[in-house]
Amino acid sequence: MKILVTGGLGYIGSHTVCELLDNDYEVVIIDNLYNSKIDTIDKIKEISKKNFSYYIENVNNYDEMDKIFKKENFDAIIHFAGYKAVGESVEEPIKYYENNINSTLVLLKLMDKYKVNRFVFSSSATVYDFNNKLPFVETGNLKPSNPYGNTKYMNEIILNDYTVSNKDASIMVLRYFNPIGSHKSYLLGEEPEGIPNNLMPYIVRVATGKLPKLNIFGNDYNTVDGTGVRDYIHVVDLAIGHLKALEKSVDNKGYFVYNLGTGKGTSVLELVNTFEKVNNVKIPRKIVGRRAGDIASCYADTTKAKKELGFEAQYNIEDMCYDSYQYILKRKN
Ligand code: WQD
Repeated sequence: MKILVTGGLGYIGSHTVCELLDNDYEVVIIDNLYNSKIDTIDKIKEISKKNFSYYIENVNNYDEMDKIFKKENFDAIIHFAGYKAVGESVEEPIKYYENNINSTLVLLKLMDKYKVNRFVFSSSATVYDFNNKLPFVETGNLKPSNPYGNTKYMNEIILNDYTVSNKDASIMVLRYFNPIGSHKSYLLGEEPEGIPNNLMPYIVRVATGKLPKLNIFGNDYNTVDGTGVRDYIHVVDLAIGHLKALEKSVDNKGYFVYNLGTGKGTSVLELVNTFEKVNNVKIPRKIVGRRAGDIASCYADTTKAKKELGFEAQYNIEDMCYDSYQYILKRKN
């Protein structure tokens, strides 16, 4: 079974490639290194002890992608490649719409041309209307609040329409909550360029002394301790969720949507305090004003993924905090 993984050198993509290789899938990565590093190839080889093909290419390049589809003869596609910074998407919406929508359209055209009928799409909990009742369930209202979330929502609409036109297609849409952590080899992990927007990469920078303190964006939310609550899921659990969806796509035609989360909410303070405890480090912190666009709480209803995919996250917050830090310590050394 040959799987095309777009964005396969990225944080979630590389962890998923390792799980695919461990399960004897044949993997072809396409990545343009916009938000990934070429040395990830060697890391995946070191972890998996397996070989795989890769192309340093932009998924938006139809002609190049056509050559690759003609040559490789894919059985399925997992589409990670896309821009994913919420703040940046507000500043540069056209860049986000062009890249995140067109890349999917290129893949769908080539799926039609080369009769590839199985597609797993990287979506996000940001498509949900944040006024929905918690925990967020797949049938909840969809109302993204930023251009990044809109691109995910529009992709879902396009993919749903595609399954109406192509009765042989099997489309699995996976809505991620908050992925953190790293592979147990500590060879793969999250290391965004510049000042991190997301909580865990920021905490890790404070722990390694690269940043002086963590600014906690508001402690006046209606939550357990006033700070924001999120559903953090270990990136290895997330990767395994993709294999479960891939397996389901073998004999289930149509359009399917699943949350990939733990179903548990963790506040900023709970995460920071857990990080300090499991890693025996101090994280200086300061409560500051709320961040624009943030909501109080967001966590997944995991019933459908468990029932239909047999997916259930295995790692807990302690694992995620420990693994996130061990990865950076290994990198530093
Ligand atoms: C988590 C909590 C912040 C940083 C984002 C994207 C979402 C998805 C995951 C792509 C919130 C608080 C954060 C900091 C803080 N990405 N925080 N200080 O906003 O839930 O989701 O990443 O799919 O699309 O929106 O994640 O890690 O930015 O924030 O207090 O320096 O940590 O207020 O409560 P978020 P996050």
